[in-house]
Amino acid sequence: MRVRRGEVEAVLETLQTVSPARVEPRCSHFGACGGCDLQHLNHRGQMDWKRGFLDRILRREAGLADLPEIPVVHLEEPWRYRNKLELTFSQEGGRVILGFHRRGSFQRVVEIEDCPIGPPGIGRLLREIRAGVAPLELPPYDPKRHTGFWRFAVVRYSRQMDGFLLMIITTAGERAPLDRLAEHLFSKLPDLRGLLWGISDSLADAAQASEIIPIRGAERLTDQVGAVRFELGPTCFVQPNLMLADRVYRAITEAAGLSGRQEVYDLYSGIGLIGLALAPDSARVISVESEPENVLFARRNAVLSGVKNALFIEGKVEDLLKGGTLFRESAGPAVVVLDPPRAGLHGEVPAPLLAARPDRIVYLSCNPMSLARDLKVIRLRDPDLNLSALRLFDFFPQTSHMEVLAVLTRS
Ligand SMILES: C[S@@+](CC[C@H](N)C(=O)[O-])C[C@H]1O[C@@H](n2cnc3c(N)ncnc32)[C@H](O)[C@@H]1O
Repeated sequence: MRVRRGEVEAVLETLQTVSPARVEPRCSHFGACGGCDLQHLNHRGQMDWKRGFLDRILRREAGLADLPEIPVVHLEEPWRYRNKLELTFSQEGGRVILGFHRRGSFQRVVEIEDCPIGPPGIGRLLREIRAGVAPLELPPYDPKRHTGFWRFAVVRYSRQMDGFLLMIITTAGERAPLDRLAEHLFSKLPDLRGLLWGISDSLADAAQASEIIPIRGAERLTDQVGAVRFELGPTCFVQPNLMLADRVYRAITEAAGLSGRQEVYDLYSGIGLIGLALAPDSARVISVESEPENVLFARRNAVLSGVKNALFIEGKVEDLLKGGTLFRESAGPAVVVLDPPRAGLHGEVPAPLLAARPDRIVYLSCNPMSLARDLKVIRLRDPDLNLSALRLFDFFPQTSHMEVLAVLTRS
């Protein structure tokens, strides 16, 4: 049992009264796999739990007593929605296995046969990767000894291409095993569009490559959300569930009250999708993103989508705000969209952001805890900004993760 921040975390011993929302988990790996943690609840039960959790966190951590209603936007079919999976190679009984981290462990891996929240065809893809790797007789990477070859498989799926882009990450070595793996995979998988080889000798347990070598086929994915057409490279960020993305962009447009005359700042813009979706209803969109690869693709995506009123700035939001360069050209930002990583806003963001007195802030968050902390800071610094709307997007059914849209409007 663990007590943390006034909450008790305990282990279930027996079930005395079974909730009517309890169901048999669909996935055979449930419990062992560290991925999904809510599969034992039906979808309605999961959404009620998420709404309750968000409500509690915002009241407790942000001190918000008067919360707007929290509508939940969700998929009808809460399976097969993820477009990206990162799997780890490991060893079991002398075999190379491929799977996800075991619940509560960074070192142990559960072999995955199929992942029912993964894209269609994922089970077959994983089976063929294992079958292609086995005869090559190279060991998986051992994170304790820092020896071995196979490290990660990063799978990306595009609905528009109806297929996969696969990056196999290994330690540095010969190219020949990757060419042989390509022979096997392309002969077995008609929906494999491209294979890339990522090289990583880093001690960090992260599926990131210091060098990427195309092995065969496509080197990037193309897809579309609403009117936004886009491409992305193997290391770019994109929402892992794009099925609700169009609904999020429409909600942001509505929340921002866009009439075509406002200047919109899209901060933490990734490959530019939010800004590009808002551009037709804005006078101009100014996007800021720190990763050069994302910015490169964002500029390309503006051309693909026929957007001409968007500017893409490479840099850290906090640096650009601190230096006073971000809002220099504007009369004052009408609308600021924030979509930071899980950690939320850098501590040096709120002061210069609020000094510019935006009319509206539309904050998209994947972490209720950092959202609550940031809302508290924003409200303390600028009490004229009121939390006028909240919406929960159930982007990640079967897991406790959620995406939240919070709208702050100046009174
Ligand atoms: C949650 S993603 C949002 C991406 C994008 N808005 C979208 O909808 O696809 C967060 C993005 O912020 C970028 N990022 C992280 N820290 C940053 C910083 N300090 N300044 C600017 N961008 C940052 C990441 O590279 C990532 O692309």
